[in-house]
Amino acid sequence: MSYENFVYEQPTRIVFGKNSIEKLGCLALEFGAKKVLINIGGSSARKSGLLDNVITQLEKAGIEYVLHSDCTPNPRSTWIDEGAFIYTAENCNFILAIGGGSVIDASKAIALLVTNPDKDGIWHYMSGEGEFKNEAVSLAAILTLAATGSECNGSFVITNEKTKEKYVNSHNSARPVFSICDPAYTYTVNKWQTACGISDIISHVLEQYLYNDNTCDVSDGMCLGVLKAVVRWGPVALKQPDNYDARANLMWASTIGLNGILGAGHDGNWVVHMLEHALSAVFDVAHGAGLACLTPYYMSYISAEDTAGKIDRLGTELFGIDGSVKNIKDKTVKKLAEFFKSIGMPGTLQELINAPVTDDLIYELAEKALPWKLMSVGGYKPFTVRDAVKVFKSSTKPLKL
Ligand code: NZQ
Ligand code: ZN
Repeated sequence: MSYENFVYEQPTRIVFGKNSIEKLGCLALEFGAKKVLINIGGSSARKSGLLDNVITQLEKAGIEYVLHSDCTPNPRSTWIDEGAFIYTAENCNFILAIGGGSVIDASKAIALLVTNPDKDGIWHYMSGEGEFKNEAVSLAAILTLAATGSECNGSFVITNEKTKEKYVNSHNSARPVFSICDPAYTYTVNKWQTACGISDIISHVLEQYLYNDNTCDVSDGMCLGVLKAVVRWGPVALKQPDNYDARANLMWASTIGLNGILGAGHDGNWVVHMLEHALSAVFDVAHGAGLACLTPYYMSYISAEDTAGKIDRLGTELFGIDGSVKNIKDKTVKKLAEFFKSIGMPGTLQELINAPVTDDLIYELAEKALPWKLMSVGGYKPFTVRDAVKVFKSSTKPLKL
């Protein structure tokens, strides 16, 4: 294997750095905004003063707005349906998401639903029944949490609260036209959510690194570079929430982590994400915490050969493990598990969901994680429901390495 042919295009303009918000009015005008649907989460954008600042910038530019608030983490399909209704009723022509992955994802879904209305709302599309025929309306983002990379990709993950399903969808036209990424906006993110973000970034990089080939050295080297930065600066952000360098490194890592550049031209993995989406669908846990819990168990489950020796490379380059020792793979997984623990992430499934785990629950989660029964995984044997059961089961006991 080697690099496959690919086209890499990055239509989102990233406006990064201190006080970037001052450019909001000009940017919104440049992209034709006349009346904006502003989407926000529960309270952080109001508390920090960011919402007021955004409104001031829009008013200065003569742009009208209407507010849609209280988007929850793991955004619900019903909130998207309401947002699409408001957008249309208020004759908006632009969407602005202020928040983390949840608000940005929900905004993308609204941007597509308004041009592809359906009586069953967004779930018609998330369930795989419908396909978006029309392009999304323009949306932009103001990022307040370094984690998902949603600020620079076309993906969105939506939960159906009734059926407890959580699915990913993606559309090129749903990529933000611009994203304002000021690391200072993340100073107010608490320790838990910062750690969840760090874990999500690490997982995105690993899911693009752990495939069965080692000839795509530009990609693998970039992955290791991003991981080194996150492992270095993540703990600093936890100790000093207003350390600009730490927040800036995490924010840029979030964007690079899932804007397609690390995965261009080769296979990916994404098993841990599928397993985690089942968990957050059923238990509404924080996405990053679920990933931190499951990743070491998954890495321990797969064989070293399945990743063309790249777990060993991870151990030597990221954690400085001596390359001549035996069992580098186990030592690497242990180091990673210790890192997640050191930033306050849960170590077992019970700890994550704060409840006992039965066999029935494990089978339910495994089925939910793989609705197509198996998934292909970067050049080695497909991952099946049986494999999912084994990984979930192993995660009920402390990792032994
Ligand atoms: O609701 P508010 O009050 O804003 O509080 C939020 C929320 O409670 C808070 N927060 C955000 N910015 C803050 C802040 N608190 C203080 N100061 C700030 N500056 O953080 C909490 C979590 O926010 P959320 O947006 O849910 O977190 P995250 O960015 O981790 O997003 C997670 C969602 O994104 C999906 C996940 O599945 C999950 O639904 N993902 C999206 C992806 C994509 N679009 O590419 C890929 C990811 O793998 C992921 O699946
Ligand atoms: Zn993720």
